[in-house]
Amino acid sequence: MRSLNYLGILALLLALPTTHSLKAHDFKTCSQSGFCRRGRALSARAKEAGATWKSPYVVDPSSIAIASDQATFTAGVKSSLYPHINFGLELRVHDDGVVRVRMDEVAGLRKRYDEAASWALISEPGISKDIKWTAGKKDIRAVYGQKKENEVVVTFEPLRVALLRNGKEQVVLNGQGLLHMEHFRTKTPEVTHTEEAAPKEGEEVADDEAQVVIKAKAPNPGAWFEGDNEDDYWEEKFSTWTDSKPKGPESLSLDINFPNHGTVYGIPQHATRLALPTTTGESPFFSDPYRLYNADVFEYLASSPMSIYGSIPVLHAHSADSTVGIFHAVASETWIDVDHASEKSTETHWVSESGILDLFLMPGPTPEDIFRQYSKLTGTTVLPAHWSLGYHQCRWNYVSSDDVRTVQKRFDEEDMPVDVLWLDIEYSQDHKYFIWDKKNFPDPVGMINDVAALGRKMVIIVDPHLKRTAEYPVYKKASELGLLVKDKNEGEYEGWCWSGSSAWMDFFNPNVWDWWKSLFKTQKLATGWSWTESTDAVHIWNDMNEPSVFNGPEITMPKDNLHYGGWEHRDVHNINGMLFSNLTSQAVAERTDSPTRPFVLTRAFYAGSQRFGAMWTGDNLGTWEHMAVGVKIVLSVGVGGMSYAGSDVGGFFGNPEPDMLVRWYQVGAFAPFFRAHAHIDTKRREPFLLDQPYKGMIRDILRLRYSMLPVWYTAFRETSVNGLPVLRPHYVMFPKDQNGFNIDDQYYIGSSGLLVKPVTEKDATEAKVYLPEDQVYYDYFNHHAYRGAAKGKEITVPGALHQIPLFVRGGSIVPTRERPRRASTAMKQDPFTLRVALSKAGTARGELYLDDGETYSHREGQFVWREFVAEKPAKKSRAIRLSSKDLGSARPAEAVDGVVLKAFDPANAFAKSIADVRVEKVVVVGLKAKPTAVRIEGGAKLVWDFTAGVAAADKKEGTASLLVIKDPKALIAQDWAIIIEW
Ligand code: NOJ
Repeated sequence: MRSLNYLGILALLLALPTTHSLKAHDFKTCSQSGFCRRGRALSARAKEAGATWKSPYVVDPSSIAIASDQATFTAGVKSSLYPHINFGLELRVHDDGVVRVRMDEVAGLRKRYDEAASWALISEPGISKDIKWTAGKKDIRAVYGQKKENEVVVTFEPLRVALLRNGKEQVVLNGQGLLHMEHFRTKTPEVTHTEEAAPKEGEEVADDEAQVVIKAKAPNPGAWFEGDNEDDYWEEKFSTWTDSKPKGPESLSLDINFPNHGTVYGIPQHATRLALPTTTGESPFFSDPYRLYNADVFEYLASSPMSIYGSIPVLHAHSADSTVGIFHAVASETWIDVDHASEKSTETHWVSESGILDLFLMPGPTPEDIFRQYSKLTGTTVLPAHWSLGYHQCRWNYVSSDDVRTVQKRFDEEDMPVDVLWLDIEYSQDHKYFIWDKKNFPDPVGMINDVAALGRKMVIIVDPHLKRTAEYPVYKKASELGLLVKDKNEGEYEGWCWSGSSAWMDFFNPNVWDWWKSLFKTQKLATGWSWTESTDAVHIWNDMNEPSVFNGPEITMPKDNLHYGGWEHRDVHNINGMLFSNLTSQAVAERTDSPTRPFVLTRAFYAGSQRFGAMWTGDNLGTWEHMAVGVKIVLSVGVGGMSYAGSDVGGFFGNPEPDMLVRWYQVGAFAPFFRAHAHIDTKRREPFLLDQPYKGMIRDILRLRYSMLPVWYTAFRETSVNGLPVLRPHYVMFPKDQNGFNIDDQYYIGSSGLLVKPVTEKDATEAKVYLPEDQVYYDYFNHHAYRGAAKGKEITVPGALHQIPLFVRGGSIVPTRERPRRASTAMKQDPFTLRVALSKAGTARGELYLDDGETYSHREGQFVWREFVAEKPAKKSRAIRLSSKDLGSARPAEAVDGVVLKAFDPANAFAKSIADVRVEKVVVVGLKAKPTAVRIEGGAKLVWDFTAGVAAADKKEGTASLLVIKDPKALIAQDWAIIIEW
C-alpha cells in the first residue's frame, strides 16, 4: 500500500474533517471538456451552413430487417464521412406506445458501453402487438395507438426519426443533422516527410540538424462535419489532471427537437427553475449546456446549469395540447443545450462522452401518461417505511451516545415529534464505516436500543470509500477478494476522502453483491465480518457516492479508472452511485429473516434510483435563495421519477437566523423527505434550542407534518403504482393551463387536493398564490374560501412567519390524525379526522391508505385502502351522503407497489389490527346552509355543530361554513355512510 507523502498529508489535513470548499473552477465548463466542445462546434458549423447542412448519416434500405414480432426493425446505417464504418439502427415499439431507438457501431475496433439501460430498467419491456412497419423507398413507418393516432417515421437519407401524433410531429431526432457517433479509430499516424535543409554558405551543420522533419496529419475528409483538428481525441487535460483516453474519441451527439412544445422540464439535477431556461440561441439564460455528471459540488450555485450530485436523463416537452417525453439511457457525462427556438418549439442538443444511442420516446399525450410510461420502464418509488415520512433530526455530528440520548430527551421534553436520529461520519473510528469510535460511542447497541425503545429509528452513514488499512476488515477483505475499483494500470485505485487514503468498492462486480449485503447482518457470521454492533432499528445513509474523491479530477474518480468487465469509469460514472444505494437497500431489507422495508438515503442517483430510497439535495447553503431553489430541485427530481426527496432543513452551511429556520421547517414539512441537517462548523440549531415564539412555531410545524402523515402515505401509495410524483407541479395537474407552465414555487401533494406555497422570502407577510381553475380553495387553517377563475387567478393570502399558505382544493376529502405524539409509531391506533372540502358543486372525494408501515405484508394484501365520497344521494335530494368504502376490492390490481393482487380481503389481519380505530371527527367545509339533521345512514342521529360562513360581496369568497360532527360513530376500516340533510 502506498503511504501518503508529506504533501498528501497536508492536503488531507486541509480537506478533513471540516471542509473542502467549492470553486467553480474545480469543475469543467463545456469549453473545458473536449467532447462537449466538439459537440458545440458541430452545432455551430451546422448553424453557419444553414440550409446547405446535411447529416452524413444514411439508412441503407436494402439492409432493413423487420423482426417476426413486427414491432422491431433493424437497419444498417452509414456515414458518408467514413464509408468503411458500419452502424446498426434498431427501432421497436413497446406495448404502451413507447418507441425505443438504439444505434451502435457494428464490428468496430472496440465495443461501446451498452449496459446503462440494463441497470435502469426493471425488465425487458413488452413489445407492441398491434403495429406493423411498412418500408418504402424513402422511409419506413408504422402507425399505432388505440385510434391509430401515433406514427413513427424513419427517413433514410439523411437518417431522421420522427414521432407524430395525429399527423403533428412531436419529437424529431437528427432533424438538424447533429447526429454523430464518433467511431472507434486508431490514432492517425502522423505523415512524416523530411527535406534536406540546405546549409547556408559557410555554415556548419551538425548531422542531426541536416534535415527538417515536417509532420502533418492526413487530411480529414470529414472536416466540414468533425472539425479539422483532433480536438482532445487522445488525451485531455484539466487543471493538474490528464485523462489518458486510451479508447480515443467515442462521443455521441444528437439533436432532439420538439417542434410543437415550447416548455421543457426535467434532466435533473440542476439548481434552476423547473421549466428549463435556454442555454443557447439568441439570448441564452445560461451560457453553458446543462451538464449531467454526478459531482460533489460543494456549496453549489443556486442558479446554474452545472451538474450536481445526480443525473436523470429524462426530459418532458410540454405544450397546452400535448406532452411527450424522452429518456436517454446513457451513463457517461452528458451535456444538453436547450434552445426555445420559438414560443411553440424547443430544440435540444445532447452530447455524451461514450455509450450507445439508447433512447426511449414516450408519446404521452399527457404528463400523467409519461409518468406511467417512464415508471413502466424504470420502476416507481416503492412504498417507504411509514416512520421514514416523519421528521428526521441530523447533524454532522451527534458526537457521542450521550449526545444522542440528550437530543432525544430534549425533543420529548419539548413535546416535539421526531422519528429518526441520525449519525454522520464521526460515529466511526477514523472514518472506517461500521466500526464504532468506542471512545465516544462506548455502547452503540445500548444507544440504539434507547432510541428504539421510544419507537424511533436511527440512520447511520456508510460511505463508499474504504480506508486503506489492514486493520479495517471491510477494506482488507474487499482488497483480498479484488472487489475494488482499479486504476488505469489495473492496480487498486487509491484516492482521498474522509477516511484519508481510500479505495472504492466496485459495485459493478457481481462478487461484491452478496458480500456487501452480508456486512449488514446483525448476527455473527461464520463466513466473515458483519455489523454485530447494530440492530434492526438502524437504517442507512449513503453519501459521497458520485463518487466524491477529494484529490480526483472534478472531485471524483479519474475517467480512465477501470470497473468490472473492463469498462472505464467514464462509461459508467452516472450510474455508479445508484448501484451503491441499490445494494445497500437490498442489504438492509434482507438482514432480517423476514424482510422489512429499508430506508436508504442517497446523494448520487440515476434513472431507476427511485426504487432504492430517498435522495436529498446535498450541501445547500443557509440562504433564502437556496431555500427557494431547493423546492424547484425537489419538483424537478420528481419529474425524473425520484419522488422521495428533500433538502437539508436549515441549510447545510451557515447559521440561519430563527426566522429563516422557521421558514425552512415550513419548506421541509411539505417535502416528501423531511430532515434537518447541518455542517460540523455550524452552531447547534435543533428546534428545541430556539427561543419563543420560534420554538412554538416549529413545534406547530412538526405537529402539522405528523397530523398529515396519512396524506403523505396515501400519496406514496399512488406513486408506488403509477409513478406520478408525490409533489405535483402545475403543468402536471393542469397541463392545458399555459399560465401554470412556469410555476415552480407552489405545488399539490399527490391527489389529496392540498396546494401549498412555501414562503421563502425574508420578512414576508403575505404570499401570492395562483389558482388555476374556477373552483373554491379553502385555507387549510381558517377555512377562508378563495375562488379561482377558469383562466386562472392570482390571489394574495396572509403569509406572516407563523402562516403557511396551504389550501384544500374544493372537492377533496383530507384524512388527518390530530393527536400530537412523540413519534409516528405511537400513532398507529390514533383516530382520524376527515376534512371534507366541498367543491362549488357540493361534492368531494378522497382516499386513505394504511398498512403496518414496516413489513412487506401489504404486498400480500394486508392493508386498508378507503375511498371517501360526499355527494347527493339522488339528483333532487336535499341531502349530502358522506360515505366510506373499500377500494382494495374494487381495484386490487392497482393497490400498491405495482403488485397485482388477484383478490383483496377487506377483513385482512392488518385491517383487524386497527379494527377499533375510529373517525373521531368529520369537518365539512363549505355547506351552503345549516343542516336540519345529521345521522348515520339508516341509524342514529349524530351530534354536530354548525358555524355559518361569512360570505364576501360576490358570495363566492369569504369564510366558509363549518359543520363539525364530533363522534360520527364510524370506524376507519369499515364501510359507513353519514347523511347530512335539510
Ligand atoms: C457530505 C454530505 O453532503 C453532508 O451532508 C455530510 O454531512 C458530510 N458529507 C459528512 O458526511
